[in-house]
Amino acid sequence: MTPTACPAWQRLADLKADADDAARNPHVELDGLTFDFSRYALTAEILDQLIALAEAQDLAGWRARLFAGAVVNTTEQRAAMHMALRAQPGDDWPVLEEVLAERDRCYAFADAVRSDSNITDVVNIGIGGSHLGPALVCDALHEPGDMRMHFVANVDGADLGRVLAQCDPKSTLFIIASKTFTTQETLLNARSARGWLVDALGEAAVGAHFAAVSAYPTRAAEFGIPAERVFTIWDWVGGRYSLWGAIGLPAMIALGRARFAALLTGAREIDEHFLYAHLAENIPVLMGLIAVWNRNFCGATSHAILPYADALGLLPAYLQQLVMESLGKRIDRDGGVVSYPTGPIVWGMPGTNGQHAFHQLLHQGTDAVAVDFIGFRDAVEGPDGHQRVLVANLRAQADALATGRRTGDPHRDCPGGRGSNVLMFDRLTPRNLGRLVALYEHQVFVQSVIWNLNPFDQFGVELGKELAEQYLSARKPTDSR
Ligand code: F6P
Repeated sequence: MTPTACPAWQRLADLKADADDAARNPHVELDGLTFDFSRYALTAEILDQLIALAEAQDLAGWRARLFAGAVVNTTEQRAAMHMALRAQPGDDWPVLEEVLAERDRCYAFADAVRSDSNITDVVNIGIGGSHLGPALVCDALHEPGDMRMHFVANVDGADLGRVLAQCDPKSTLFIIASKTFTTQETLLNARSARGWLVDALGEAAVGAHFAAVSAYPTRAAEFGIPAERVFTIWDWVGGRYSLWGAIGLPAMIALGRARFAALLTGAREIDEHFLYAHLAENIPVLMGLIAVWNRNFCGATSHAILPYADALGLLPAYLQQLVMESLGKRIDRDGGVVSYPTGPIVWGMPGTNGQHAFHQLLHQGTDAVAVDFIGFRDAVEGPDGHQRVLVANLRAQADALATGRRTGDPHRDCPGGRGSNVLMFDRLTPRNLGRLVALYEHQVFVQSVIWNLNPFDQFGVELGKELAEQYLSARKPTDSR
């Protein structure tokens, strides 16, 4: 239903944050993870009304349908069972057997690549959801000794060119990752990579130097990739939710089974938490409701993702796709035009770098911005003493936004009253990265339910793709204007 018709929406519109009556326990602990939303100074009544809004929009019902494998992607008549990709034997998913079998195939292939001393470089060619997830995981969890992984996404030939310049055809494995196997950028990059390999090693080498991930194995076969090297993504997995399965193949190769399995375990823990924790203590539910509060009642048009971990440099880009492809919509589930703002612009970069770039606007600018600080109490790498400084900076920024400062000089004043979430984990491990990404997946789902949107389609990207094809097939100069 339209959320603006809920009494809770009307009441929220009247409420103002009142620090004197702030929620009594504004944080949730979950096995080494602290979700602290105290700096929003939400009143107990605001929180109650946000929960009432979730209940009025039938969040529990939608969540149950999501986890039952029902057709929640109604515009495409599909389920959205990405959680099944991190399932364990015995879990209750209609697709469990095929998921576990495909995971075993991927692990076996990854093991073989890892133990093949002839392979030194793996190049993933894919874009969007077929790129950002595995790139994020490989980058975030890289350890010395991991295989050299490269990610080519852009159709700009410089992207592939720079990677090929670092590789030797004899020791390079290409993974062509494309759910549809029709994406223009990916296919052009794949064909160019194929040409580079064939020029050096001949046509017969293609089968041994290429693998693919796709929902259309026949298209990969036409490219020349043997069936035993083609791995499956199903139509019930959206690209931006797909890193947990075969699209994660580069990460399985880089990390090995045990670390990749820990990533899945972490994500599955959050699935259980999302499914069973009381709404008022449910971290992704609270994250989603606070995002709605910021967007619809505080006027925040954007959401800054500020990981205080250099290894999470790709997280803002990953979440841009997750949030903006899922929630960047103006038509609700019933086909009507919404009368309220929906998905925010997502942006960010790791702290402390952003402090010396854009935090000025966060502290003194005119726009409301939703802010998530993501931190880790302990370091996994690097020299001693840095983590303390990093975490002190995170807390300082969050507190400075919340409390502000009066100086007597308006140019130097910070108004304060600018809230933020702080997600603090013990350290950046595979399990915690899995927990972090799954939290955002479910946050997005919560927002979609409140806004009465289908978060699993992305028709908005099609028009530009079609026009580009038309321009190319008409052989019109594209540089005239
Ligand atoms: O253009 C958007 C999109 O369809 C994404 O949703 C998807 O992740 C990406 O393109 C890549 O698609 P494919 O995996 O089919 O190549």
